[in-house]
Amino acid sequence: MRHFLQLRDFSAEEFEHLFRRTRAIKEQFKNYIAYRPLTDRMLAMVFEKSSTRTRVSFEAGMFQLGGASIVLTMGETQLGRGEPIEDVARVVSRMVDIVMIRTFEQGIIERFAAHSRVPVINGLTDEYHPCQVLADIYTFVEHRGPITGKTVAWIGDSNNMCNTWLQAATLLGFKLNVASPAGYELEPARAAGIERSHLELFGDPHAAARGADLVTTDVWTSMGWEVETDARKDAFAAFTVDAEMMSAARKDALFMHCLPAHRGEEVSAEVLDGAQSVVWEEAENRLHAQKALMEYLLLGRVEP
Ligand code: CP
Ligand code: NVA
Repeated sequence: MRHFLQLRDFSAEEFEHLFRRTRAIKEQFKNYIAYRPLTDRMLAMVFEKSSTRTRVSFEAGMFQLGGASIVLTMGETQLGRGEPIEDVARVVSRMVDIVMIRTFEQGIIERFAAHSRVPVINGLTDEYHPCQVLADIYTFVEHRGPITGKTVAWIGDSNNMCNTWLQAATLLGFKLNVASPAGYELEPARAAGIERSHLELFGDPHAAARGADLVTTDVWTSMGWEVETDARKDAFAAFTVDAEMMSAARKDALFMHCLPAHRGEEVSAEVLDGAQSVVWEEAENRLHAQKALMEYLLLGRVEP
């Protein structure tokens, strides 16, 4: 049994398989060809934080594969009344076939997985958001071909998305330029030992964007950090991805954002809604990439 708790839980070769399956599953679905290998299977989704895309894409995806899903929130389950996560894992994993969790510390999802009889998927933690980067890289591949050897510019907070992009850079062989304001840089332990061909740190976001094949950013204040919102607005003021910053990147550079976005903060409306932006395709691909992921975790390597 395998889990997907962080991006590096899978090998580069497994990502190649997932990208191939995402493409095939997406094409079949677009052509109204039913594919229901997970009939009678159940997905449980545990949400300790808000979600639009993650919830809709997993629920729609499981339905399209023939299965069903159930959403568990803190307020409506015994989790909110202090039932140990280990006990919840033991019980829920005897009733369902796969679990997705969105929570705070990575340790919570690791404890759940350690006591689960079924595969567990990270639907976002404070540290990582691997389902999003899976869909993002698939979206890059769909538009531009392999990402190996390319340069991705991460502009902004060194958050769960940034950490996950960094794992992807070392695993899939591309370069990540990270530009963050002082006080919000990548944790030194994450950068330690990573070759310059995979990671370069910048204080100047324009320098980080220079020559990039993909420019990507995220909210300045992630879920759980709301008390810092005002301080972060000041600190990140020079880190808005706007047309001028995009002009430092390659002419054919793509723009991505995991969404939800704040126009006028981390990205200008002109860039988010502009020709280089693939944010809506990126969101749509969560649906198809996660179907490929659930297929792989439950059925193993399905070849066409
Ligand atoms: N990008 C993403 O995970 O969106 P939600 O928070 O809406 O799920
Ligand atoms: N970094 C953001 C991503 C939201 C999908 C957060 O954790 O809130």
